[in-house]
Amino acid sequence: TPEAAVEHGEDGVRRRDFINIAAIGAAGVGGASVLLPLISQMAPSEDVLAESSTEVDISAIEPGQAIKAIFRKQPLFVRRLTEKEIAEAGAVNAGSLRDPQTLEERTKEGHRDILVTMGVCTHLGCVPLGAAEGEVKGEFGGYFCPCHGSHYDTAGRIRKGPAPTNLEVPEYVFTSDTVIQAG
Ligand code: FES
Repeated sequence: TPEAAVEHGEDGVRRRDFINIAAIGAAGVGGASVLLPLISQMAPSEDVLAESSTEVDISAIEPGQAIKAIFRKQPLFVRRLTEKEIAEAGAVNAGSLRDPQTLEERTKEGHRDILVTMGVCTHLGCVPLGAAEGEVKGEFGGYFCPCHGSHYDTAGRIRKGPAPTNLEVPEYVFTSDTVIQAG
C-alpha cells in the first residue's frame, strides 16, 4: 500500500541518517588521532623545546655507519664518515648545491668525520633511511627519504628530490672525544 511505502521510505531515511552520523563521528575521531601526532612532530611545543639535552655515545659508530638517537622527541642521526667520504664531500662544489653548505660548515673543527643532523626530511617531515644497518642510503650514499624520494649526501645535503634544504644540523657540543651533547 502507499502508506506502507511511505513507512519504508521514512525508515530508510532514518537508517541513512543514523549511518551518516555514525560515519561522521568515526571520521572525526580518526582524523583527530591521525592529525595530532603529525602536529606534534612538525611543530614541537614549548615543553618539548625546553626539554633537557640529549647525550649520544659515538664510540661504537664505525666509519661509514650512522646511528639514530632521539632529541626533543625527534630522530637525531649521528654518522661517522670514512676518509673517502670526507674527501668526496669536500670535493663537491658547494655553490652548485640547492642549499649551499660545505662539510666544514656542517661539522666541528677537529671532528670532520662526525656528522650530526636531525633525522627529519625537510620536505614534509618523514624520517629518511640510512641510519640503521642495511637501510637504503640513496644515490648519494647519505640518506634517502622513502616518502617522495629525496636523496641526501654523506654530509646530509639535499642532492635530488623535492626537499628544499639540507638536513638540519642542531646545536651540539663534544663533551669528550666520544660523547656529543645536542641541545
Ligand atoms: Fe621526504 Fe617528502 S617527506 S621526500
